[in-house]
Amino acid sequence: MRKPLIAGNWKMNKTVSESIDFINSIKDIKNDCVEGLVCVPYTSLTEVKKSLEGSDIKLGAQNMHYEDNGAYTGEISPLMLKDIGVEYVIIGHSERREYYNETDQTVNKKVKKAFEIGIKPIVCVGESLEERESKKTEEKIKKQIEEGLKDLKEEDLKDLVIAYEPIWAIGTGKTATSDQANDTIKFIRESLKSIYGDVSEKVRIQYGGSVKPENIKELMSKSDIDGALVGGASLKKDDFEALINY
Ligand code: 13P
Repeated sequence: MRKPLIAGNWKMNKTVSESIDFINSIKDIKNDCVEGLVCVPYTSLTEVKKSLEGSDIKLGAQNMHYEDNGAYTGEISPLMLKDIGVEYVIIGHSERREYYNETDQTVNKKVKKAFEIGIKPIVCVGESLEERESKKTEEKIKKQIEEGLKDLKEEDLKDLVIAYEPIWAIGTGKTATSDQANDTIKFIRESLKSIYGDVSEKVRIQYGGSVKPENIKELMSKSDIDGALVGGASLKKDDFEALINY
């Protein structure tokens, strides 16, 4: 019922020419059972959009501002993304929360703006190692869901994607076990259900954190994992192809 979404988050990697070369190497990858997506740096969006013409792979950004325009030096407006033809945007990645002071409140503003403008948000949630070890995972995630996803329109939920990314598993080579990931994702859906009811069944919830060709099959075999948000492994052609064709 929920089509898996396998998304690459390139983070701050690839110049425009490197992006074009990479897209040309992956644009013919096709798996009718999976939605494939690349979330590329702002500077590459326009050229990647052109290079993806005719491809099944979709285009996403990694962040956006919550205002349409104004005096926000260095920021990118949702209207600019929409104008390029961006379909998805990552919101509230843990790196943005950690290094750029993003909060559940700014996440909430951005998510609402994304829906208003017609871009599908991929909202990241997840706990630190300290929080997991002190058994605060559920408390942390519940707060991120309640505050970051508050006051959404029910009809928008079908276009919402949540990425569960335990911070301790990002770029560390440590993956949550597939059971840990599945259990936390179930908890996320229950939390969402307590706010929005059955429409929450339509929301796709991905896992992210050291996903690679070697562990994707196991993760995707779990009942509640609807895809993956992948950093490092999405930058290599063979790995990205193996992920889409898990
Ligand atoms: P890695 O796959 O490199 O661990 O990154 C995960 C991530 O942060 C995706 O958004």
